[in-house]
Amino acid sequence: MRADLHRPLVVAHRGSSGTAPENTIAAFREAVRAAADIVELDVRMSRDFELVVMHDRRVDRTTNGSGCVWDYTLEEIAALDAGRWFSPRFKGEQVPSLRAVMRMLPLPVGLNIEAKTDGDTRANTALAESLILHIREARMERRTMVSSFDHAFLRRLHRIDPEIAIGVLYYPLRDFGRSPSVLARGTGAVTFVCSRSQLRKRHVADAHAHGMSVACYTVDTVRQARALRKAGVDALITNYPQRILTSLSALR
Ligand code: G3P
Ligand code: MG
Repeated sequence: MRADLHRPLVVAHRGSSGTAPENTIAAFREAVRAAADIVELDVRMSRDFELVVMHDRRVDRTTNGSGCVWDYTLEEIAALDAGRWFSPRFKGEQVPSLRAVMRMLPLPVGLNIEAKTDGDTRANTALAESLILHIREARMERRTMVSSFDHAFLRRLHRIDPEIAIGVLYYPLRDFGRSPSVLARGTGAVTFVCSRSQLRKRHVADAHAHGMSVACYTVDTVRQARALRKAGVDALITNYPQRILTSLSALR
């Protein structure tokens, strides 16, 4: 996730989730239409060990169902409505599988898969193996990065397949005082990811000194985008890719 010569990369957070229901094909389509450089999504495992795209542990907030993602098979979760909560216009939108998103994402759009883990070692190993298989099968290894707040998970994935690009997500309660390069140890992480309020100059300096890029979330206003660009942030993770791209191109 290196910035090009002119502007930071624009990453559509859960797709274009400000204008369409998060983590749905509609949101990813809007992100592609907006010409986002990268699409970010959250991945979890279903009861039948399939990879499904959902942020929360439970389906309640973003679908008409109830319970944990882990309680559903892929087929059962695909039968839920994942669009109506956002707007009646998106009624019938489904919870997609990771495979379905990979299929619809055209070149050269990049993919940032954020792995949501639940602390179970065996489930996490299965998740890491399945993610690698998905990326390899889709031949997307050159345009995919896997990130997670769970650094033990990232180390496991890196051990299994050291070629997959990795992003470390910063969790201050645990990581405070640790620099991006220290957090990257054992994962070979190429990117440090943190929220806007967590970002410090020393993070940017350390990451760049060690050949890492910096990505920041969630960047939804023009003013925020300009400030972070000035601070040397390489990628802006936003719910409004169209707005942020327009504001950055006006700066050229
Ligand atoms: O990957 C950046 C961001 O997505 C992390 O937070 O909660 O939106 O998945 P969250
Ligand atoms: Mg995420």
